[in-house]
Amino acid sequence: MHINQPVTQREYPVRDDCAIISHTDEKGRITYFNEDFLEYAGFAPEELMGQPHNIIRHPDMPPEAFRDLWATLKAGRPWQGLVKNRRKDGDHYWVKATATPKPGAVI
Ligand SMILES: Cc1cc2nc3c(=O)[nH]c(=O)nc-3n(C[C@H](O)[C@H](O)[C@H](O)COP(=O)(O)O)c2cc1C
Repeated sequence: MHINQPVTQREYPVRDDCAIISHTDEKGRITYFNEDFLEYAGFAPEELMGQPHNIIRHPDMPPEAFRDLWATLKAGRPWQGLVKNRRKDGDHYWVKATATPKPGAVI
């Protein structure tokens, strides 16, 4: 389990009108992100591209959540869940995440 520190336990609120989008490869390395993803994650684009998605993992997230996410995607099904993500500065933001396997791909 990858532990990112420090954490502030200060929430960075997510606006209603945003769509935080990222794509990964089959290993979970980030291959695409949009402007909203950048704003909430708080990293520079070059710090994110190609990095493992656990770069924004919050240590409060139980490992079981991600085990379930990966098992679901590998079975070819979409996964939904509430995820607490860590910003670069240690603050956090909550997302109602939907992850889907790319049609035709086996993650
Ligand atoms: C499409 C996709 C999106 C993901 N989004 C997140 C995310 O927003 N936050 C997160 O912590 N992990 C996310 N993950 C899971 C990470 O790949 C990783 O499994 C998780 O951060 C736990 O990492 P660890 O086992 O190294 O601690 C995502 C994975 C995929 C495939």
